[in-house]
Amino acid sequence: WSFFLIAMLCSYLLGSISFSYILVKQLKKVDIRDHGSGNAGATNTLRVLGKGPATIVLLLDALKGALAVILTLWMTDNPTWSILGGILAIIGHNWPIFFGFRGGKGIATTIGASFVIAWQAALVASVVAILVILLFRYVSLGSLLYTITLSLMIFILHIGPPSYFWMSLLIVLLALFQHRQNMIQLFQGKERKI
Ligand code: G3P
Repeated sequence: WSFFLIAMLCSYLLGSISFSYILVKQLKKVDIRDHGSGNAGATNTLRVLGKGPATIVLLLDALKGALAVILTLWMTDNPTWSILGGILAIIGHNWPIFFGFRGGKGIATTIGASFVIAWQAALVASVVAILVILLFRYVSLGSLLYTITLSLMIFILHIGPPSYFWMSLLIVLLALFQHRQNMIQLFQGKERKI
């Protein structure tokens, strides 16, 4: 139990490192949360700093999700708990202890974690998300469909024990909750395009 709790704490703290906040603060001396959508994530970094920095943020935010899963698996030797490690990193990203609990929407971190947990499902979800973003230019729509496809593929391909699917549903719920404003804007046709 103590290993499990330490792994969860480490995952949350790892997730709390907001790379978009740090990079934008370093390069532009502003708070990313005061610009664009106000979200501390890769998409908003694209708006504030451009493609290069946004790609770096995407990779680093994904890396912390992947690391949280690997670290938890290493510490607990329990695949189901390792997904919880990924979820704690997503929670850290969304509500970071180091940045006043105002962070991002957890998608890059979800991508990183999911490639470690179920790479086949993550690959299919990536293709779906990329196609949707290229077609409609809404990153939020692509993000939501990433999590939904991920969960569906885990179910369809029977990846891992049943707990994998239930945990992936939790990831979908987190994404839906964090994108509530985006969904309203999508329905009203007011969502930002890239
Ligand atoms: O992953 C975040 C993305 O889905 C939406 O970001 O800044 O357009 O709200 P944003």
